[in-house]
Amino acid sequence: MTSYDVAVIKGDGIGPEIIDEGVKVINAVSELNGFDVNWVEFPHGADHYLENNVLMPEEDLREIGKNQAIYLGALGDPRCEPGVLEKGILLKTRFYFDQYVNLRPVKLLEGVECPLKNKGPKDIDFVVVRENTEDFYVGIGNRVSPGKTRQELEVLRSLYNIKFGLDIECDKSEVAYQIGVLSREGSERVIRYAFELARKQGHERLCAVDKANVLSHVYNFWRQIVEEVSTDYSDVTHEYNFVDAITMWFVKNPEWYQTVVTPNMFGDIITDLGAMIQGGLGLAPGGNINPEGVSMFEPIHGSAPKYKGQNRANPLATIWAGALLVEELGEEESAEKIISAIGSVLAEGNVRSKDLGGSASTSQMGAAVVAKIKELHG
Ligand code: IPM
Ligand code: MN
Repeated sequence: MTSYDVAVIKGDGIGPEIIDEGVKVINAVSELNGFDVNWVEFPHGADHYLENNVLMPEEDLREIGKNQAIYLGALGDPRCEPGVLEKGILLKTRFYFDQYVNLRPVKLLEGVECPLKNKGPKDIDFVVVRENTEDFYVGIGNRVSPGKTRQELEVLRSLYNIKFGLDIECDKSEVAYQIGVLSREGSERVIRYAFELARKQGHERLCAVDKANVLSHVYNFWRQIVEEVSTDYSDVTHEYNFVDAITMWFVKNPEWYQTVVTPNMFGDIITDLGAMIQGGLGLAPGGNINPEGVSMFEPIHGSAPKYKGQNRANPLATIWAGALLVEELGEEESAEKIISAIGSVLAEGNVRSKDLGGSASTSQMGAAVVAKIKELHG
């Protein structure tokens, strides 16, 4: 029997509860489809950090990298400074494994209420391919006090290392700056991934997001690379949307979109909007993918610390992320089974978590998906 090793990082807040349901669902589907998952748990998150002062060191990443995929709950805890866990664990892991694609399907399922008037499941069904290692997420910048200073900034990636040595002379006010970086290869690979995905899904149109009218150095470069890559895909037309405009169009004409490719920061923003139009953060999954390496799957939402331990959070985003995980492992049929079970549970509407207007608990939602998988395929 095929067996996969999968690292599990349950993380903070509601992370453990929702991941437990995701694991149950994958176990159920793996039994039906004749494969086995060996779950290897890792303790990273707020508790581990506060007890041991350890975020995510290289040696732990090497251990995690012995597995074929990573299943992540959520990170973030009010006891820690904002950003410490997010940058020290989540972003560190994305960058270490060079998970350059952040894949975020935006799909309104039958039976889910949509906040947009007169829009239904046939109108909201697209996929956002977010670049996941560059742009303003490279994390370099600083504050500068008046006077003369020299600052050395560095970006270390498996694709490249860049050093910026800056001589800064500032006369009066204290300033802060943040540098965004796009590389040709880093952009090309994710744009190519998006075109390939569009082709595979039978999409005729790809929309590339930027703000080339203002942040012209980075995003004219991005556009140029979209143009270059597009010449290999005569079957997929492409167009450009400024990021501000696309937020308007997502609300006004979501049916226009099929495949969207976006730089990192804009992708972060527009996928929260995407999550809302597909029925809320409780339903939005994401995959951090390195097609040649170790990928990590997680819900888009955060750790919701105030609901921790209450068995009330909606686990469906995490369960859906689990479907993306088994798909990446090559178990496509299992992925379809999970997604269709989520769809049937929602369409029937008997078991709904609080965010969806019902009263079902986290574990009841998970159990409903497991039962549906068995009912449909058992
Ligand atoms: C996301 C999150 C992360 C991001 C944070 C927690 C670092 O918002 O996955 O969308 O900005 O990428
Ligand atoms: Mn986000």
